[in-house]
Amino acid sequence: MRAQAMYEWIKAFHVMAVISWMAGMLYLPRLMVYHAEAQTGSIQSETFKIMERRLLKGIINPAMIATWVLGLYLAWSAFGFKGGWLHGKLLLVFILSGIHGMLVKHVRNFANDSNVKSPRYFRILNEIPALLMVGIVILVIVKPF
Ligand code: HEM
Repeated sequence: MRAQAMYEWIKAFHVMAVISWMAGMLYLPRLMVYHAEAQTGSIQSETFKIMERRLLKGIINPAMIATWVLGLYLAWSAFGFKGGWLHGKLLLVFILSGIHGMLVKHVRNFANDSNVKSPRYFRILNEIPALLMVGIVILVIVKPF
């Protein structure tokens, strides 16, 4: 396969992984808003636990790994890890990965019935991945610097 065609295939799979990761990063904190409003020990609360665990283990974690592996390949093969836009993008993706880590911790706390955060906290947390996505997509497509 030509190197260019190979690059385009990898980029296509990178974007598919990104869509899956972002879908979860936008939905999981929203689930937690409702979970934080539910009574501990209620049927709703137990159902949210299952939904959160499956979303995290089945979609968000594997999609994040695929996004990173494929993205790093693209950054290395075509750009040699150079470019202000790429460094800016990497910074924002590191922050997004940090939010991912916080969500893992919150899923664990909900599973142990030890969440102490309010619905308002999760509402605010829910906005951050959307804002990061705006910056990441502008950097990689417009490449302003
Ligand atoms: C995990 C670390 C990531 C790295 C190292 C990375 C790196 C890259 C690179 C080098 C490209 C190719 C750019 C080009 O060919 O002009 C690319 C494409 C792309 N990335 Fe990422 N990326 C990562 C994560 C993300 C995330 C989290 C998003 C969105 C939230 C994202 C969205 C995109 C999009 C939409 C494209 C296609 C751009 C185009 O074809 O013009 N990437 N990425």
